[in-house]
Amino acid sequence: MTMDRLTRVPGLLYGGDWNPEQWPEQVWAEDVKLMAEAGVNLVTVGVFSWARIQPDAHGWDFGWLDRLLDLVHRHGVAVDLATATASPPAWLVRAHPELLPVTADGIRLEFGSRQHYCPSSPAYREAAVRLTRALAERYRHHPALALWHIHNEYGDHVQECFCPASAADFRRWLRERHGTVEELNRSWGTAFWSQHYNSFEQIEPPRTAPGPVNPTQLLDWRRFCSDALLALHRAEKAVLDEVSPGVPVTTNFMSMLKALDYWEWSRHEDLVSDDAYPDPADPRAHVNAALNYDLMRSLKGGRPWLLMEQAPSAVSWRPVNVPKPPDLHRLWSLQALARGADGVLHFQWRASVAGAEKFHSAMLPHRGTAARGWQQTVRLGAELRRLGEIAGSRLRGQAAVLLDWDSWWALELDDHPSARMRWLDLLRPWYAALHERGITVDFVPPTVEPEGYPLLLAPNLYLLDTATADRLTRYVRAGGRLVCGPFSGIADRHDHIHPGGHPGPLRELLGIVVDEHWPIPDGTTTTVRLDGIKADGTGPTGTEPDAAGPTGTEPDRTELHAEHWSEWIETEGAETLARYGSGALTGRPAVTRHRYGAGSAWYLSCHLGADVGRVLDLPLAEAGLSAELPGLPPGVEATRRHAADGTDYLFLLNHGPAERRVRLRTPGTALLTGTDLLTGTPTGDALTLAPLGAAVLRIPAAQERA
Ligand code: GLA
Repeated sequence: MTMDRLTRVPGLLYGGDWNPEQWPEQVWAEDVKLMAEAGVNLVTVGVFSWARIQPDAHGWDFGWLDRLLDLVHRHGVAVDLATATASPPAWLVRAHPELLPVTADGIRLEFGSRQHYCPSSPAYREAAVRLTRALAERYRHHPALALWHIHNEYGDHVQECFCPASAADFRRWLRERHGTVEELNRSWGTAFWSQHYNSFEQIEPPRTAPGPVNPTQLLDWRRFCSDALLALHRAEKAVLDEVSPGVPVTTNFMSMLKALDYWEWSRHEDLVSDDAYPDPADPRAHVNAALNYDLMRSLKGGRPWLLMEQAPSAVSWRPVNVPKPPDLHRLWSLQALARGADGVLHFQWRASVAGAEKFHSAMLPHRGTAARGWQQTVRLGAELRRLGEIAGSRLRGQAAVLLDWDSWWALELDDHPSARMRWLDLLRPWYAALHERGITVDFVPPTVEPEGYPLLLAPNLYLLDTATADRLTRYVRAGGRLVCGPFSGIADRHDHIHPGGHPGPLRELLGIVVDEHWPIPDGTTTTVRLDGIKADGTGPTGTEPDAAGPTGTEPDRTELHAEHWSEWIETEGAETLARYGSGALTGRPAVTRHRYGAGSAWYLSCHLGADVGRVLDLPLAEAGLSAELPGLPPGVEATRRHAADGTDYLFLLNHGPAERRVRLRTPGTALLTGTDLLTGTPTGDALTLAPLGAAVLRIPAAQERA
């Protein structure tokens, strides 16, 4: 089921996880009164209530939950009802000790925390499905029910299990994937180190072994582990779809999580929801948050998503848990909306007094309504009500970033030329450069044609099958611009090296060949000279300037610094835009561009870290991409959501510690007059943002046409 409005609750969603089982019922009455005061319209209930709902193998206790749901409904609050399956109760664990997960070293993890289950355990699965069905049958028609919340953060504590049940499930999965053991032997390259299998029965999960484990076995294991958790989710989803059709279903994602292929997972969600915990101690945390939110928006092709959990102030699980200073929580909540969310929820409503999270902040802190945090809760609720009309509006990225979990898993396998090539370390500087330039991006999966974007960025494509390479080639031939990062086009889907030289199936498109990978030792850098490129981002010195760009400026002498990675490459049709300026590769090409069909294919053969933006400026200029609002002061983030009726909502967020003045003019210098929904004030041709301040301008449709 899909919908533009996340749930039947109108406006933006506001609330949090509520764990009423931790409190006597008298407290609930106060809770719902305060929820109304804060403008809370959705609470997540039951996430860790299994032991309370099903006290033993023989009975259920729904009475308290009946009373609770009736109570919130009477107070006009809707419920995101959890299936409560994330923390199996002690009686179930003791009856089925085999459902506890086992590590790669053979240690069975004990009861006493949460998420203590083996993803492939039949006993766990059966009990989880039974609980889901009982809840669905009881509450499917309850008027408070607005959303189903399956489980909680799959993959948070337990991402894999190495017990005999997991081994059997892995073998079943391998049979399905490979068909025959001969095929598996070919795929895993078992001729190496005498690893040949005679039958599937001989195969085990990649437990701790004396030395390096077969990389394709490890890659298949990653795929299997994502699928095994997804199978659990799908089992619960099937029950909810059958018993409670028409009520949307979600599970809370964990931002850019390596363990789960969220492209595949999001196909099984009615709406995407995310838990995000940017660190207030990190002055750049908002950049990484933007990246995660762009992914959440992209997972369902731009549809609104839900920020399911965030901390009102400090968390309790970092070594040092820094609170959010005044206004930061509001700013970060608005940032989620700015990037497509239609609601902001929290962990949690009322601060716990016992348990591992008693020092975690809450919407209602230990100090009660006298606390600063409570004032903040009330203020944010009121502001979200003022922003209600943005619900359902959308934003689309100006460029796209290719994200492939298979390639991420394969890139980070052991025994590569450098262990420093990590997907997030490669992606983040590229994303930060775009964010700094005010360019909004969507993420796209490798399996679809990246049509409609003038620029496609692929910071790394270590694993690349020929079908994806063909799609990329078609995209460029038709006029797209592909920018490809280092160590790409290396391996096929079995993690076997593509024959004929790197970058394998991208060699013709990129017009280069890699002779040898040249990792850079830790703590040192190699310089890269841009003296092939003019400062305005047009073609190399001595060549005809690019038709898309301006002309006649001096070549840029900037020296950039590559870290961790460089490559000895030779051009085969591509032009050289930058060369190595130090070390063994001095004078050799570092950055290239290949005109191909109606488009161009760019290759960055090194890891440029924070300097990568200076190179990305070139394809951005060629694609004609610039910030939606030019001349934004540093630290100010701007995005624009579009409503179906033509109204635009311009978010302006000041992440810096100083006041900032923002001119309200488009790249075409049209004036953007509107009304700041937060204050109700009409704006002129500029506005001032306080430190950590924000504005959300409604720009009427008529002006958009002007
Ligand atoms: C996660 C979990 C919550 C809680 C918070 C604390 O998001 O889903 O149950 O543990 O972390 O930050």
